[in-house]
Amino acid sequence: MKNFATIRQCKVNFKKKINYKTYNWIAAAAEDGFTSEINSEALKQIIIKPQLLSKTGYPDCSSNFFKTKIKFPVLLAPMGHQTQFHRNGEIETCRGAFKSDIISSFGTQSRMSLDDIRKSNKNAKLTWTIFPFGDLKWIKNQIKNAEKNNALAIVLCLDANVRSCRYKDLESFYDARKIGKRTNPISPNPEKSYFYDWSLIKKLSKFTKLPIILKGILTSEDAIRAIENGAKGIWISNHGGRMFNSGLSTSHALFSINKKLKNHRIIKIVDGGIEKGSDIIKYLCLGADFVAIGRPAIYGLAVNGNLGVSRIFEILKKELRTSMINGGFKNLKSFNQNRLILNKFKNIYGI
Ligand SMILES: Cc1cc2nc3c(=O)[nH]c(=O)nc-3n(C[C@H](O)[C@H](O)[C@H](O)COP(=O)(O)O)c2cc1C
Repeated sequence: MKNFATIRQCKVNFKKKINYKTYNWIAAAAEDGFTSEINSEALKQIIIKPQLLSKTGYPDCSSNFFKTKIKFPVLLAPMGHQTQFHRNGEIETCRGAFKSDIISSFGTQSRMSLDDIRKSNKNAKLTWTIFPFGDLKWIKNQIKNAEKNNALAIVLCLDANVRSCRYKDLESFYDARKIGKRTNPISPNPEKSYFYDWSLIKKLSKFTKLPIILKGILTSEDAIRAIENGAKGIWISNHGGRMFNSGLSTSHALFSINKKLKNHRIIKIVDGGIEKGSDIIKYLCLGADFVAIGRPAIYGLAVNGNLGVSRIFEILKKELRTSMINGGFKNLKSFNQNRLILNKFKNIYGI
């Protein structure tokens, strides 16, 4: 069924529509998937305190993503290999995100090339995510091409140097690379990524005028290194638990990074486990400037193409707005940690 009223209903429709092996591929995470589960578990452990008679009016969630004005603090996370889910893959996803005025991210693991995504989505607001799977010259060429295609920022994905061992995937004997077409060339040499250090970030931040965002940051130590080396944004993420079975949820990571980075103005994006409006409120109260949506956008893509992707974002917009009015949040400034009860959260992590 193409129609869905909620994200959980979309997920049910997705599961019915898609081959179980492909379903396992998207659900899969590193080893037994513990880190993916803990993203959702940690969100559940956070309690939001409602505040009555707060004169919320019509809540205003507008802000700036660097120089771009946006009305809703939600982005589309980069996800590779999307032609498994729709013939046009990332081109279609971009169309859906743009319909809902959402900034989308695609990257070097995309099946469709940036030129092709841009050709079909002339006005889309997008960022380009680079896995450092080649030499410096290749990375710089990726950046130049992103500049040529009017990307708003460069995202460097630093947490996925080698494909992890995902039990769900391995036990399905599924190879995603064999399903669906591609126009984006395969990156030349993933093993190059094992040998980079922080000097790469310094070089690249001098090379481009576009803001550089580092994706995969989970500790305050790495967040500070990101700032010191010229990054303008950090993307707090464990890749939806898909790469390293660390057991570290992104809520916990955001909480501890925010404590150390209080006096630094750096854009903080977070992702992991968001499936409803109140999840967004929790991350914003923990200190994120923006949240990003991963798997649910793919459910929407497979179920109803660009209309499905857009519907996912419209559902989240409505849920965020209603939760803000009923919970007493007027605008982005109303989100702060005083509005959370983190006791259960503290018990889990001892913070
Ligand atoms: C199927 C799939 C493919 C992904 N591919 C990429 C990728 O190519 N680049 C990247 O930076 N992150 C990738 N990610 C991670 C997402 O950008 C994001 O961090 C994660 O999905 C967020 O968690 P969520 O799925 O629980 O929302 C991928 C995630 C999934 C589920």
